[in-house]
Amino acid sequence: QDLPPFRNEPLTDFSKPENRAAMEAALEKVRAQFDRHYPLIIGEDEIYLDETIASLNPSHPDQVVGRVSAATAEHAARAVEVAYEAFQTWRKTPAEERAAILLKAAQLMRERKHEFSAWMVYEVGKSWPEADADTAEAIDFLEYYARQMLDIEERAPKLVYQIPTERSTYRYIPLGVGAIITPWNFPVAIFTGMVSSALVTGNTVVAKPAEQSPVVAYHVVQLLYEAGIPRGVLNYLPGYGEVAGEALVVHPKTRFISFTGSKEVGIHINQRAAEIQPGQIWLKRTVLEMGGKDAVIVDETADLDAATEGVVVSAFGFQGQKCSAGSRAIFVEDVYDEMVQRVIERTKQLKIGDPVDPTVFLGPVIDTDAVNKIMSYIEIGHDEGNLVLGGKRLDLDGGYFIEPTIFTDVPWDARIAQEEIFGPVLAIIKAKDFDDALRIANSTEYGLTGSVYSRDRARLERAADEFHVGNLYFNRKSTGALVGVHPFGGFNMSGTDSKAGGPDYLLLFLQPKSISEKI
Ligand code: NAD
Ligand code: ALA
Repeated sequence: QDLPPFRNEPLTDFSKPENRAAMEAALEKVRAQFDRHYPLIIGEDEIYLDETIASLNPSHPDQVVGRVSAATAEHAARAVEVAYEAFQTWRKTPAEERAAILLKAAQLMRERKHEFSAWMVYEVGKSWPEADADTAEAIDFLEYYARQMLDIEERAPKLVYQIPTERSTYRYIPLGVGAIITPWNFPVAIFTGMVSSALVTGNTVVAKPAEQSPVVAYHVVQLLYEAGIPRGVLNYLPGYGEVAGEALVVHPKTRFISFTGSKEVGIHINQRAAEIQPGQIWLKRTVLEMGGKDAVIVDETADLDAATEGVVVSAFGFQGQKCSAGSRAIFVEDVYDEMVQRVIERTKQLKIGDPVDPTVFLGPVIDTDAVNKIMSYIEIGHDEGNLVLGGKRLDLDGGYFIEPTIFTDVPWDARIAQEEIFGPVLAIIKAKDFDDALRIANSTEYGLTGSVYSRDRARLERAADEFHVGNLYFNRKSTGALVGVHPFGGFNMSGTDSKAGGPDYLLLFLQPKSISEKI
C-alpha cells in the first residue's frame, strides 16, 4: 500500500471570505432540511416509528433539527441479530478492503466538511471553529484507523518467534457484534471514530447515538454506506439510553460494548455487561470512556499571558462541555491574585450568542437538563466559593444560554471542585506552592486531562511522573487532542484509558489467534 503518511486534517481559516461563504452556504443547506423524520436502519430495513425523539436547536429550542425514530428493546434485539448475520461475511473481507472504505469515507467527509459542521452548529450549538475541529477530527479518525489496520495486518505474523519443528503465525481476528454507544458533545468525531474503528477491524455494529445528537449521526451513517460499508454491517439505532442502549448491552449476541459518556452510565454498563445472559458464550469486552474534572495548574514561573488564554479556552470552549474541559484552575499563591484578575478580564471578552454567528465564542448548553444541572451547581458554588463572574442564565430567544461563571477561593474538596458539571463553570483553587498544586490536581476520582503552565523544567518533569492523567499537556490548553498526536483516554473514573486515535486502540476490537503447524 502506497498511502501517504498520516497527517492531521487542517482546520479551516474562517477569516478567508471564501471559507466563510462556504460555511454560510452549508448552514443554509442544512437549515432547509430541518424537521425531517429519520428512520431506524436495521439491515436493509428503514423503519419509521410514531414514537420519535425531537432533536432541538439549543440556541432556538422552537426549531426542530430533526425527528428520529425511538427504537424499542425489540428493535435493538433485531439489530443485534442482523449484525450477527452480517458478521459471518464481513469478518472475512480483507483488511485492505475495509481500510479502503474508511479512506473513501474520509474523502467524502472532506468534500462535505462544512455540512457536517453546520449540522453541529444547529444540533448541539458548536461555534464554527469548534464544529470545524470536530469534523476534522472525524476525518482524522478515518484516515488514521485505515492506516493502523493495514499496519496491524502487516505486523501480526512477525510478532511470534519460530522454532525449528514448527511454523507459527499470529493473526488478529475481529470480535463480533459491537454496541457503539456515543455521547452528544463530539457528535461527529467520537461517533465516526467509535464506529469506524469497530468496522475496520472486521466487526459489525449497532450504533446508538446520544438522544441529543442523532440527526448528524444519521448523516455520518449515510456517508459510511456511500463509502461502501454494507447495510447490516452498520445499523443505526437512535433511541433512549435506558431502553435501546440497555437492550444492546444485555443482548447475549453482543460481543463488545464501546461506550463514551458519563461516569454514571459507564459504571452501569460495566455492571450490566458483566452479567451472563442465557445463551451467551463469551465475556463481553467493554471499552468505557467517561468524564473528567480536569485541572490547569499555573505556577509563578509561567508565561501568564499564555496561561490566561489556556485557562479560559480550556474552561469555556464549547461552553465547558468537554470531558477534557479545564474546569479547575489551580494557581500558586504568588500569582493567584494576578491570574484571577486576568482570567476574569479575558472571560468578559467572550462573545455569547447563537453560534450561527461566526464571531460567537460561547453558545448554548445542550438542553434543559443541562441548564438545570449547571444552575444547581452554581447554587452549590455560592456556598463553596466566591462568585466573581457570571452565574446567571441568559434569556436569548429562549435558548439554553448560561453566562461563563467563575468561582474563586474554592476549597480543593468542594463539590464544584470534585464533580463534573459539564458546563461553563470554572472553580479557581489557591495552592501554597507547586507541590500543593500537584496534590490538589490529583485529588479527584477522575484522571483524564491536565495542563501545567510553568517554565521550571524540573517541575514539568515531576508533573510528568506524578500528575496522574491520561493526557497531560505542558504550557498549552487541556482540550483539543489531535488524532495520532495525543492518543486520548483517561485513568481512574475517567475510563478504561482506551487511547482513541492511538496505536493501541484498534487492538481493543480484535482478538489474537495463534496458529502453529508441525513441520
Ligand atoms: P451519557 O452517559 O448521558 O450518555 C452517553 C450515551 O449513553 C448516550 O448515547 C445515552 O443514550 C447512552 N445511555 C444512557 N443510559 C444508558 C444505559 N442505561 N444503557 C446504555 N446506554 C445508555 O453522556 P452524555 O451526556 O451523552 O455525554 C457527556 C459525558 O460524556 C460527560 O460525562 C463527558 O465527560 C463524557 N465524555 C467522555 C469522553 C472521553 O473520551 N472520556 C469524551 C466525550 C464525552
Ligand atoms: N478529544 C477531545 C479533547 O481533547 C475531548 O478536547
